Amino acid sequence: MHISILSVFPELYTPFLQTSLVRRAQDNGLVSYEVVPFHAVCAPKERIDAPTFGHGAGMLIRPEVVERAVQYAEDAHGPSFKIFFSPQGKPLTQYDVKRFAQKLQEGKHLMLVAARYEGMDARVEEHYADALVSVGDFVLMGGDIPAMMVLEGLLRHIPGVVGRQESVQEDSFTGPFFDYPEYTAPVVWHEKEVPEIVRSGDHGKLREWRLDQAARKTVMSRFDWLRTVLMPQEYKKLVTKHIPPHYVVLMHDDVLVGGREPIKGATSVTSLDIHDIARSSCTYGIKNYCIVTPLLDQQKIVQQLIDFWMQGAGVTYNEHRHQSLESFRLLNSFEQVIDLVEKQEGEKPLVIATSARMVDRDVLKPERTITYHDQSLIWQQERPVILVLGTGQGLTRDFVAQCDYLLVPLEGFTDFNHLSVRSAAAIILDRWLGSNIKFVRE
Ligand SMILES: C[S@@+](CC[C@H](N)C(=O)[O-])C[C@H]1O[C@@H](n2cnc3c(N)ncnc32)[C@H](O)[C@@H]1O
Repeated sequence: MHISILSVFPELYTPFLQTSLVRRAQDNGLVSYEVVPFHAVCAPKERIDAPTFGHGAGMLIRPEVVERAVQYAEDAHGPSFKIFFSPQGKPLTQYDVKRFAQKLQEGKHLMLVAARYEGMDARVEEHYADALVSVGDFVLMGGDIPAMMVLEGLLRHIPGVVGRQESVQEDSFTGPFFDYPEYTAPVVWHEKEVPEIVRSGDHGKLREWRLDQAARKTVMSRFDWLRTVLMPQEYKKLVTKHIPPHYVVLMHDDVLVGGREPIKGATSVTSLDIHDIARSSCTYGIKNYCIVTPLLDQQKIVQQLIDFWMQGAGVTYNEHRHQSLESFRLLNSFEQVIDLVEKQEGEKPLVIATSARMVDRDVLKPERTITYHDQSLIWQQERPVILVLGTGQGLTRDFVAQCDYLLVPLEGFTDFNHLSVRSAAAIILDRWLGSNIKFVRE
């Protein structure tokens, strides 16, 4: 199993290849490395680089130099799978390093091509790269550290390189959850104690605890990644267990009504909103979907409809509608919602307003505005969450000002922004709580 590394600065690899497991892999005959310096394939005084065409300062490695270095390594070790590096490449994942390790195990000569300066002539990557890898959304000075990262990542998957191969199977990004927390002596360090269960010797309980902790850590810190993973039902249950309880409220009070100069008022209830938001809420694990209206005639209409689905012919007419309305609550005021959540959860909720428009800075401080990437910020506070939707022309400024956070508006890339509240509710719930699986593609 051979790996060629093409680089402008071969000296960078000397300590790296001679240290720890990377060295041992070679010493044990599992893999061999050769660093091919670009200058080794250049004539004396021939330059490795050349200026870029057009405006914009910068130097690129000359295509002919790369070609000669590739040829040199392939003459010695056969046709290769070539990995190039660029911040514009595909973000490197655990799946990729595993795939590269597999190529190596299948006897493929692996070539890591590290650029420097402004990078490679665009045609070189187009012509040669079997994989164009980015190690993150930032720009380094060269591809050498990315090459070392790929090397370390893939070597873990070559049997015999890492002492305990099982530990590789349990690594983060292998299954849906991160690796579980691990501890060593001393038992108490800076007043923090190693959990009793870890020292108990009860292997069954420890396995359960570790899975639970792994799920919790992943939900809390990398929901963005977790939601992309296809997982079995029992793992989904663990995910829901660790997402704090969420509530959805549709406000028919404290909203803006009227024409061009809207005023604070109350709106009528729409039966479609009752059904559709209840179904969305059920789908995304909302604990209660509440409608707030102080208007008695509106309450009567809602109650009649709910009675039909909860006690009347609706129970058997459409089982799913009945089921989705089980968690529905009709309330007089938003204060009643807070009381309900506090009573059920024993904790003051965080209130997140939603709006079709950005709210002025004087209404809510900018740091109180959150996006659909801020689940960790909210969930790590370990409080129940209320998502509030407005009707009419949206929640009043006074209402929003009293909320803890405001979610940025949903927007397409057009000027039109007039979603119905039930459509908005479905999108908001999906963006905030939904799974969003991603197939691994090479
Ligand atoms: C200074 S960078 C060129 C960046 C290029 N001008 C851009 O903005 O896309 C030079 C070389 O460093 C390597 N490099 C820099 N950042 C990287 C990253 N995030 N992932 C992988 N390689 C990177 C690549 O080999 C790249 O060609």
